[in-house]
Amino acid sequence: MTIGIGIIGTGTVGSGVIELLTTRAPSLAHAAGVEVQVVAICAKESSELEPYAKAGISTTTLATDLIDDPAVHIVVELAGGYDLPKSWVERALKSGKAVVTANKAMIAKHGGHLFPFAFQHGTEIRFEAAVGGAIPIIRSLREAFVASDAKSLACIINGTSNYILSRMAEVGMDFSAALAEAQAHGYAEADPTFDVEGIDAAHKVAILASLCSGQRVDFQKMHVEGITKISATDVAGAREMGCAIKLLGLVEIHEDGIDARVHPCLVPYKHPLAGVNGAFNAVFIDGSTSGPSLLYGKGAGRLPTASAVVADIVDAARRIHDKTAVVNLSWMGAKDASLRPLALAEGRYYLRFQVADKPGVLGRVATILGENGVSVASMVQHEGKGTTSMVIDTHHARESDVQTAVAKITAMHDIVQPAVVLRHYDRGVVE
Ligand code: HSE
Repeated sequence: MTIGIGIIGTGTVGSGVIELLTTRAPSLAHAAGVEVQVVAICAKESSELEPYAKAGISTTTLATDLIDDPAVHIVVELAGGYDLPKSWVERALKSGKAVVTANKAMIAKHGGHLFPFAFQHGTEIRFEAAVGGAIPIIRSLREAFVASDAKSLACIINGTSNYILSRMAEVGMDFSAALAEAQAHGYAEADPTFDVEGIDAAHKVAILASLCSGQRVDFQKMHVEGITKISATDVAGAREMGCAIKLLGLVEIHEDGIDARVHPCLVPYKHPLAGVNGAFNAVFIDGSTSGPSLLYGKGAGRLPTASAVVADIVDAARRIHDKTAVVNLSWMGAKDASLRPLALAEGRYYLRFQVADKPGVLGRVATILGENGVSVASMVQHEGKGTTSMVIDTHHARESDVQTAVAKITAMHDIVQPAVVLRHYDRGVVE
């Protein structure tokens, strides 16, 4: 018997998957217990399909043709997007085929519907590559941490943003040059605003939060900020405070709801997440019995992501061949999570105000902070030409108080740019 693989999408990841399935066929057959072969490929443009057609593989520009092909047992969806791939996945599942995908957007938006749908049709969806590239985080949360009650998690989960922030910190590169480099390495999404505005990270954090909580977490209801407002001044200011700036995904399960969010944070150098640089991703899990664990690896790129897709294909092929039970993930969509409002958050804050450099401005800023219960821990201001950056680090404060104070300060005439508000992250600091 041979398990036939149909691949939709021949872009960065798709071409990597085809390469691995072809060049590693003997060892993959050994791992799966059955031969696994690419039998059909679908791409948007017929020109992309020419080399595969020459190699004798069935090719098409219509995903539905590939899905309906009786030689295809596992449909691998690598096209991306929210709704069109969902219709393809439903079609494949309805006919009892297994689905493997790297599509975090589709899983985040439609997973709550697709998981029970797959189970009802006696089949499954695997999506290890959707979160953290080569890091086996989905398997870990589903299997290895089941006795550990992972109620708190922090992650660096977007390789492009982490690459940009690392290059800004290490070589003083500006934002757009670092983004261009990340794109050239194949880390970025087709629309890089998904990376730099935190949307890609939000898709992944919603999936992780669902796995941790057993509830459906809607990424559209999460607090999400990207990294476009971070400047060289902030990178330098954080460094002076002994911190790196990282785009973090945070999940905390509380009695009164789930705190799931994405925003840049100041991470102290002594925290393991501060040392995660370049396109690397990491997930820091605080389990009630396991204690803190860090899973670290390549979160983006052609072969790291392809390796996770291929591992899922091998698992699905083994299950089909052995006729063993499918993984039932219906529980992930059974109940809508109640998300905890950001206003309930607390911690230390980094605030940067671009202000007119004239008498009384500092006094008024400090007064507003004090009147709203926000205590200043340190303040740095370098002399400028007419305007200056006022960088304030606060003591522990309430988010709602900080937001009220920042809104009042922003309304002052002497503020010349929107304020930058960054939160400190210090859970799990290794002393
Ligand atoms: N654009 C994504 C990233 C690719 O930079 O992490 C992997 O999901």
